[in-house]
Formats: sequence, C-alpha cells, structure tokens
Amino acid sequence: MNAPDLKWACAQAALPLISEKMTIGLGGGTTISHLVDLLSQADRTDVRVVTPSQTTRDYCLQKDFTVLNLQDVSKVDVAFDGCDQVDQHFNALKSGGAIHTREKLVASMADDYILLVDESKFVDSLTFDVPVTLEVLPDAYSYVQCEIQQLGGHAVPRKSPAKDGFTISDYGNIILDASFAKFPNIASLDQKLREIHGIVDTSLFVGCVTKIIVTSPSGSKILE
Ligand code: 5RP
Repeated sequence: MNAPDLKWACAQAALPLISEKMTIGLGGGTTISHLVDLLSQADRTDVRVVTPSQTTRDYCLQKDFTVLNLQDVSKVDVAFDGCDQVDQHFNALKSGGAIHTREKLVASMADDYILLVDESKFVDSLTFDVPVTLEVLPDAYSYVQCEIQQLGGHAVPRKSPAKDGFTISDYGNIILDASFAKFPNIASLDQKLREIHGIVDTSLFVGCVTKIIVTSPSGSKILE
C-alpha cells in the first residue's frame, strides 16, 4: 500500500465512529479530505460539520454538508484531525498548518478527539524534526523570541511563500517556529511556553487526544 492508500484506509476506519446526526469536527489535510469524500459517498450529509480549516470548510460546503460557525458551537460529539507526528503517550505536534489555535479549540469542544495517521507518523517519542509553532501577539514578537532563548530554544518567524513577509494567523497574529536543542519533558515544555505572555497557543497537543487511528499495510487499529 502506498501513502495515499494508507490515508484512504485510515479515513475508512474512522467512518464507523460517526453516528447519525452527530456534530463532528474535521481538521485539515488529505486524510480528512478522504473522510469528507467517504461521508459524501455514503450519503451522510445528516452530520453537521465544524472545522478550523478554511480548505475543509470550502470542501464540505462543495459536498453539501452543513458547516456550522465555530462561534455558534460549544460542543462537538467527535472531532477528527491529522497531525505531523503523534507519540505513544498521545502527545502530538501539529505545526504545518499554522492553525493550531483553532484546531485546539475544536479539540477542546469534542468529547472525543481522534487523530488519523499512517504508521510513519506514529512514533515512540516526538522527534521534533518539525519545529514547535507558536501563535504570537504582534506586540510580543521580540519579547517571545527572547523568552524562547531563555528556554534554550530559537524562534524564527515563518515566512509566507505567497507574500513577501511573515505568515499571519487567521486571528492576525504572528507565526513563529521554535526549535529546541533538547526536550526534557513535552508537557512541561508546553506549559512553560503557554506561560509566556503573548503566546496565544502552541502546536503541541498535550492531554487532548483521546484516540489514534493508525494505519499500516496490515490494517488499521484504534488506540485509546
Ligand atoms: C498540520 C496538520 C495536518 O492535520 C496534517 O499535516 C495533515 O496530514 P495529512 O495530509 O497526512 O492527513 O496537523 O499541522
């Protein structure tokens, strides 16, 4: 099985977890778009969708799903998302999309927050090949960079490929990518980062993942 097939199989394994008329969270990425396709093919437009991703929102609307505005929702039955990496303790890193603040909001609303990954993303411990992404208030930019240095890290603004400048979040904040030489403890790193004034949220997901669907050529398994 190649990588696209694994993602498709992973989305298929998620489908039975969606009951009739549920309000579901759908994150971003290719695996989630497969789940949208599968729901559409199964004529499951009875579900109502909440999403942190503009791309997923547009795709769901195109497929005739009801998409609710985040501000009108306080509870989600189950939310599905992809990630860059997740470890055996259910700590995840979701840096790529730079929409982690909104993704974490949907995760918090959900009774169940389920990550869909192919086996390459499921690791013993997060390897931090990708940086920890920080959404930062514009006025706190220099201060946060300095505080990250105090923690033994190095934070740089993410360049925007489209514009000749920084990547700006949907909330108008600056996106910084922070690298750390060593990571003694994921939960404590996340806590220290979130204690820095001006950091809105980090791309470390600690204590929010309830299940992981891991797909390999031999099949899919649900970890909980
Ligand atoms: C970005 C993410 C995305 O959810 C993730 O990258 C999607 O992965 P895939 O396209 O393999 O489903 O967390 O930070």
